[in-house]
Amino acid sequence: MRFYLDHAATTPLRPEAREAWLTAAEVVGNAASTHGAGQDARRLLEDARETIAEALGCDPIEVVLTSGGTESINTALHGMWTSRAADADAVVLPDGEHHATMDTVMALAAAGALVRPVALTALGRIEPAAFADALPGAALATALVANNEVGTLNDARALSAAAAAAGVPLHLDAVAALGHVPLSFRELRSVAAAGTGLVAMSIAGHKIGAPVGVGALVVARTARMAPLLHGGAQQRGLRPGTQDVPGAAALAAALMAARSEFDVENARLTGLRDRLVDGIRTAVPAARLLGDPVDRLPGNAHILFPGAVGESLLFLLDVAGVAASTGSACQAGVAEPSHVVMAMGGSERDARSVLRFTLGRTSTDADVDAVLGAIADAYARASGARSAGRS
Ligand SMILES: Cc1ncc(COP(=O)(O)O)c(C=O)c1O
Repeated sequence: MRFYLDHAATTPLRPEAREAWLTAAEVVGNAASTHGAGQDARRLLEDARETIAEALGCDPIEVVLTSGGTESINTALHGMWTSRAADADAVVLPDGEHHATMDTVMALAAAGALVRPVALTALGRIEPAAFADALPGAALATALVANNEVGTLNDARALSAAAAAAGVPLHLDAVAALGHVPLSFRELRSVAAAGTGLVAMSIAGHKIGAPVGVGALVVARTARMAPLLHGGAQQRGLRPGTQDVPGAAALAAALMAARSEFDVENARLTGLRDRLVDGIRTAVPAARLLGDPVDRLPGNAHILFPGAVGESLLFLLDVAGVAASTGSACQAGVAEPSHVVMAMGGSERDARSVLRFTLGRTSTDADVDAVLGAIADAYARASGARSAGRS
């Protein structure tokens, strides 16, 4: 048996999304073509865009379809920087952001941007006051709605209000939050001078059961954003190229399905996660939940196993049929210490001793039981691995 507890990496395709995807794939025609076939494709695309806009609380024209979270983030940050660089040179980058954001900002730094970091709290949160302190005069700011590793939720509304007050354009990375946190672009926006405050928000379809390869960037009508890609005039010129009609239809279907079960499913995941965390603590008394114990993604259990090597734990659990994650990036197949745990004040040793279990739509009690049945032995052996490695 296999037990999948890595839904934050990617979650299984929803049947509704699969059906919408396959049905739309049968439609022949480029949505930019003026003939009847093209117009059929166009209608499907624009219906999907309307549904996506409704789910994300924005206008259809503000939905820019992309290939996923990384592309959305790159498009937003490069585009905002290019359109603002003549006026200001600082980019506000909180610690503990996803690599798609950190590495994009590093690319901007190579092109002359000055990076203004914002420290995380010990629970992994961006403190709105600290964020506000970093904003004055900045070219742009970015922030996670929910931290994808430790699961802590940020007060996105407060961050957006701070950006509006400072007259700085803000991008929100809502990839990990999607499906688990109410996300209305309109409601998150504070009244701001045109082109400032919240202007862009990134999501990825595969985190909620749409196929891998489709995502969206919400771009406010008033945003100043230069295109990253160049070509046709599709999607306000911000993402030129033939549009992915099946991907859009699947994303719309997944968003609708996620919305219809939002409350019930998040309550169910919270219950499963709490049982998982309590059970791990009983099996491994030294284990500690990281991140905010309450204000966190419902399906996220991010656990520090003191003295154990996270990679070894991951391997031993995999042998027992359990798929989890260290949550952090890999370099040549070797996990790096978690930059998020270190930004929360953890040591490098701690940052190598964490595992992230994430639950989703297909998770059941059997998944929790599988972890609880394997974790004590895996911990004993993975702690031994570290002692042996050091002697
Ligand atoms: C918070 C966050 N941002 C961005 C990304 C990148 O998204 P994608 O894998 O769709 O490119 C991820 C993916 O894990 C994520 O969790």
